Amino acid sequence: MHEIIAQLEEKREKARLGGGQKRIDAQHAKGKLSARERIDLLLDPGSFEEWDMFVEHRCTDFGMEQEHIPGDGVVIGYGTVNGRLVFVFSQDFTVFGGSLSETHAEKICKLMDQAMKVGAPVIGLNDSGGARIQEGVASLGGYADVFQRNVMASGVIPQISMIMGPCAGGAVYSPAITDFIFMVKDSSYMFVTGPEVVKTVTHETVTAEQLGGAVTHSSKSGVADLAFENDVEALVKLRRFISFLPANNQEKPPVWPTEDPADRDEMSLDTLIPDDPNKPYDMKELIIKVADEGDFFELQPDYAGNLVIGFIRIEGSTVGVVANQPMVMAGCLDIDASKKGARFIRFCDAFNIPVLTFVDVPGFMPGTSQEYGGIIKHGAKLLYAYAECTVPKVTVITRKAYGGAYDVMSSKHLRGDVNFAWPTAEIAVMGPKGAVEIIFRKDIGDAEKITAREQEYREKFANPFIAGKRGFIDDVIMPHHTRKRVARSLSMLREKHIENPWRKHGNIPL
Ligand code: HXC
Repeated sequence: MHEIIAQLEEKREKARLGGGQKRIDAQHAKGKLSARERIDLLLDPGSFEEWDMFVEHRCTDFGMEQEHIPGDGVVIGYGTVNGRLVFVFSQDFTVFGGSLSETHAEKICKLMDQAMKVGAPVIGLNDSGGARIQEGVASLGGYADVFQRNVMASGVIPQISMIMGPCAGGAVYSPAITDFIFMVKDSSYMFVTGPEVVKTVTHETVTAEQLGGAVTHSSKSGVADLAFENDVEALVKLRRFISFLPANNQEKPPVWPTEDPADRDEMSLDTLIPDDPNKPYDMKELIIKVADEGDFFELQPDYAGNLVIGFIRIEGSTVGVVANQPMVMAGCLDIDASKKGARFIRFCDAFNIPVLTFVDVPGFMPGTSQEYGGIIKHGAKLLYAYAECTVPKVTVITRKAYGGAYDVMSSKHLRGDVNFAWPTAEIAVMGPKGAVEIIFRKDIGDAEKITAREQEYREKFANPFIAGKRGFIDDVIMPHHTRKRVARSLSMLREKHIENPWRKHGNIPL
């Protein structure tokens, strides 16, 4: 018996070492943690239950029959984060560069199948050279098996990808299907084709970091939701992020204890809106002042900053926030903001997270680049997402709600449940200047008349009461009462239940 136990320990020790101490040291020298160290940081201490430690590849080509490393380049299992169950796979770059073999893929699939059966999130810590070259089509098949599971799990359990090393070629499409992609600066990159291919085909010279690094994807492409400084920060923040999410689409979001009174007044909000309607202010100040303990987990802060998205809690329960940001492009909606908002709203809707919308929007962004880029279809995504969404929707118009953007931003007409306006709200087809230039064109040139017309228009439309008269907004609230009124609305809506008509699926304008 002692001998058997010793053999088992020996096998485990070998598996734990992955590609060996030299390669682990090389990983450390690059500023990266090993696959197991990452799991240790992510999960609650001692909670990790590992599976398939002894799995080995089946390849017999290119000398691979001589090289067997137990675990085959991916550590899988389950554990807890703040006491809540999660499934995790962590690719081990020290084993054949973390490349995905047939058996490596089987391990990930096994994990995903189990996560689906019990309804818990899957977290992938990606660090891989892509398809195991020695295995050819077997590894490609393995990728497709993972993709298929990613798609089936979408909207059923949260899926999060943390990119902590290479992720290239078709391998990028598994993270792309997951709900959130986070990346680590300077050590991770994602691209469909690398710098060499780019140079050959388009004659552009770029580094891997410029082409697909964390900063590129979190600021230019919008592929990544956040970029972290290093592995440790990434995993600590990931733990915090998970605390906002429900385990699956049948559950409500978790409720955490809070000391912050739901009826807290914020007097400073009464002076948030500047006297000059064209002067910006920081919408994040409102979000933070409404949130429990001022805690706002923002996503994509460096991409499409004209629309702010992220999670807060109210009375301890997760709320998704979507807000126009007057500080960036005056809060106009453009292609990037529309896509950013739409995907976030669809995540919230799939996982029973109420959506709180703060509106200050002068309209959709004009211009050839927007029109040629298809803002018609992309803007429609945001509209579609709000319209099909069945979770509680609370909207607060702080200032401008002009034109189509008024309709789109969770208006009453798109089944907004509770729609508030601040006294400073201006709900109209367009701003006074534009409106007067169109309906009083004959007066252009007569500055006095135009000023008078603008004033007349402003008095008539630049307020919340026309919409109030029609019931398009439910109440005009004092800014300092915003948290209280939103909290009461969400509490009233807690058991809201509506269903969309049966269909195989809708056809969102992709
Ligand atoms: C097998 C691989 C591998 C792979 C790396 N290794 N990638 N083994 N299959 N895909 C091995 C290396 O041989 C090496 O083994 C070890 O991992 C570390 O790799 P290095 O090259 O020494 O590391 P580094 O210099 O950091 O470079 C990392 C890298 C590079 C940039 C990822 O290894 C690389 O370019 N690999 C190939 C990437 C690739 O073309 N993959 C296929 C993409 S297409 P030793 O024994 O020397 O330590 C794809 C299709 C998916 O993935 C399709 C889905 C539809």
